[in-house]
Amino acid sequence: MDLRPIGVFDSGLGGLTCVKKLIEVLPNEDIIYFGDTGRVPYGGRSRETIKKYARQDIAFLQSFDVKAVVAACGTVSTNGLGEISGEYRIPIRGVVRAAAEAAARATRNGRVGLIGTKASIRSTVYDDMLLAARPGVSIFKRACPLFVPLVEDGRGPGDRVLELVAEEYLRDMLNSGVDTLIMGCTHYPIIRDVIAGVMGPDVTLIDPGAETALALRGELEAGGALREGDTGTRRYFVSDSTEDFGAAASIFLGSHVEGDVEQISLDEILR
Ligand code: DGL
Repeated sequence: MDLRPIGVFDSGLGGLTCVKKLIEVLPNEDIIYFGDTGRVPYGGRSRETIKKYARQDIAFLQSFDVKAVVAACGTVSTNGLGEISGEYRIPIRGVVRAAAEAAARATRNGRVGLIGTKASIRSTVYDDMLLAARPGVSIFKRACPLFVPLVEDGRGPGDRVLELVAEEYLRDMLNSGVDTLIMGCTHYPIIRDVIAGVMGPDVTLIDPGAETALALRGELEAGGALREGDTGTRRYFVSDSTEDFGAAASIFLGSHVEGDVEQISLDEILR
């Protein structure tokens, strides 16, 4: 048994889609969430900048003596996380491996789509993991840079602008004949219905945050590191104002936010 909390971070609120699943499958775990809302989005930035931000985000979470860190951000997970994870004594897990393995299991025709931020699509980490999990798989990729700002702006199903953007982004993906689509940015499950509306009912959508939560449970179980006993506590930290956090976070979590919400100064992590 390991009583230490699990640390989770994202550039903004998207990582809460992973927290939602963690709360469901690991209800006894204490969770510390950090959303770098003062610097979101990361997806248009360079690999070096994304790595620098990731190190700072991890350093902040480490100040809580966490037993593992989940980079619940597709952009961080595909831009150098593999290189920097070796710098830590605790496991630093991204969202790519679990999502790629789930997609490899799900596809029937061997045609898998990936949508994500520009930085994620530029990277080949997903290609490598998918090909390792299922040799010969065909991969179709498309950057969808407007999705994150639209989601952070609170737009969802029924919003005409979002639906128009989704149709434009996903038209070629639909025509490519994929039967499985990885929503490679943790913000995208919030607009799952809009994506499904374009792709149709026969395309399986993969949620990397949720898959990663399931994989982490397996790892903690195998390592005897689960926390047993009472229901876990949750603390949320953001690097910008907490003012609208509750309303926005409840959409991502699918329930009312329970736990403290605090704003931290970026200076605390910019060391
Ligand atoms: N949730 C992040 C991701 O999974 C958002 C991307 C961004 O900050 O641009 O990629």
